[in-house]
Amino acid sequence: MPQFPTIRHRRLRLNDRVRRLVRENHLSVNDLIYPVFATYGQGVRREVTSMPGVYNLSIDLLIEDLKNIEELGIPGIMVFGVPEQKDEVGSGAYDPEGIVQQAVRAIKKAYPEMLVITDVCLCEYTSHGHCGLIKGDTVENDTTLDLLAQTALSHVQAGADMVAPSDMMDGRVAAIRARLDAEGYTNVPIMAYSAKYASAYYGPFREAAGSTPQFGDRKTYQMDPANGDEALRETLQDIEEGADIVMVKPALAYMDIIRRVKDQFNYPVAAYNVSGEYSMVKAAAQLGWIDEKKIVLETLTGLKRAGADMLITYHAPEVANWLKEG
Ligand code: PBG
Ligand code: ZN
Repeated sequence: MPQFPTIRHRRLRLNDRVRRLVRENHLSVNDLIYPVFATYGQGVRREVTSMPGVYNLSIDLLIEDLKNIEELGIPGIMVFGVPEQKDEVGSGAYDPEGIVQQAVRAIKKAYPEMLVITDVCLCEYTSHGHCGLIKGDTVENDTTLDLLAQTALSHVQAGADMVAPSDMMDGRVAAIRARLDAEGYTNVPIMAYSAKYASAYYGPFREAAGSTPQFGDRKTYQMDPANGDEALRETLQDIEEGADIVMVKPALAYMDIIRRVKDQFNYPVAAYNVSGEYSMVKAAAQLGWIDEKKIVLETLTGLKRAGADMLITYHAPEVANWLKEG
């Protein structure tokens, strides 16, 4: 008689060699997308108080910092803009000389191979801080679409390799696809923020981007955190409208959504490990309460296991360094 228990899962955990052989998911530098905040001026490096290690950078210093990103082999970046001026209609978002358009031109000139993805939204550029046009106290859907399409087109004309609409208006992917195609940019992919929740985890980002809504909240366009089926409907619509990559955002509290989206559609899925998720880790690490490296690698590996193909994370450069260390 074999000694009970005959099935021992621990046999395959015996040492590092055997654990490496049976490991199901792998975190790699190839998974990473690094978000950056471009701002106006020269020689500007403003640390975001709630996001240690994350800065608003003028284009000259952004170009300097991106050298490290390129050398680490991180495939791509996500560009956000912090403009000098805002107005009711977010003109800075689709201005050919806007901050993102200028930054993209400079980045592509300095690093032609870098995959430059731009966040397409109006909230950083509107005086009211909402992601669309305002009528009374409602955020209008249909009139916003044209401006989003115009924004995306101006990014692509500046050299962006991919556009990522984050506004959560209905029909934006179709509107952007139609405009890009009409202008001959049929090969520029769209990464749609498909399941984007109205989340408190964006708090630190809004400090970084100066995009806090001046009245109300984003609950009439971003999703209710209580809903899962709706995320699949949102994602389906984006795919039908021509999205090439779909995103779930935030990541950690929405791992079930990542898994459901992956299983349902078998599309490339991006998980956005958002600002608040970064800030919580940084704060606890600064207090010495957690092992930052281990926590971050565990979290990001968990997101891969949940079904994410790519990870948008402010930890990207640290992760790339840690992975090199082994
Ligand atoms: C703009 C946008 C936001 C984020 C990405 N694009 C903020 C928001 O919707 O309020 C959040 C990113 C983060 O928290 O790291 N619409
Ligand atoms: Zn927005």
